Amino acid sequence: MMLMFRAKPPESWLPKVIANLGTVLVDHAHLERKAAKSALTLQRYQQLSTRLEELTSIAIEELEHFNLVLKLLEKREIPFGQAISSPWLSGIMNTIRKGQNEQVIDHLLCAAMIEGRSCEKFQILSEALVSVDAPLAKFYASLVESEGNHYAAYLLMAKEVDESETNRRLDFYLDLDAELVQKPNDLHILH
Ligand SMILES: [Fe+2]
Ligand SMILES: [Fe+2]
Repeated sequence: MMLMFRAKPPESWLPKVIANLGTVLVDHAHLERKAAKSALTLQRYQQLSTRLEELTSIAIEELEHFNLVLKLLEKREIPFGQAISSPWLSGIMNTIRKGQNEQVIDHLLCAAMIEGRSCEKFQILSEALVSVDAPLAKFYASLVESEGNHYAAYLLMAKEVDESETNRRLDFYLDLDAELVQKPNDLHILH
């Protein structure tokens, strides 16, 4: 699976996350919950009527991830706090256009960007945490493949709706993501 991002997270991202692992884990839990919800929301689109089972499987996997993070929180006695909204996430999601194929393609591409960035960041964390928090490093390593598969699945679904529009729009999202991802913030969140 090839990720094609045009910019890396800012230098400040990794130290910020490592210094605030507890709050980041709560944010991660919310991300998994929202990813499950997103897979179910995509089932509303007529264009994805042949993908219902696949979307259900993704939703189930995300809920399994959610449960795993909740177990980690419980083990570490970290309370499950409120979700913190992410400027990167809302900046991506706010671009979804209305209209037949536009909406479903944009929605799928936004979901793909989120899955792709999660895959990338889980990979970075799995390596960086080895010497800091070995069990957590292992946990992040165990999620990389699944999020990568979700990224690929959503991209493929969009291409099946309209390949040239998907490629054109993907170019837009890769530029937007590159612009947004480089803006540092002090929020204790993954994205
Ligand atoms: Fe997940
Ligand atoms: Fe995922």
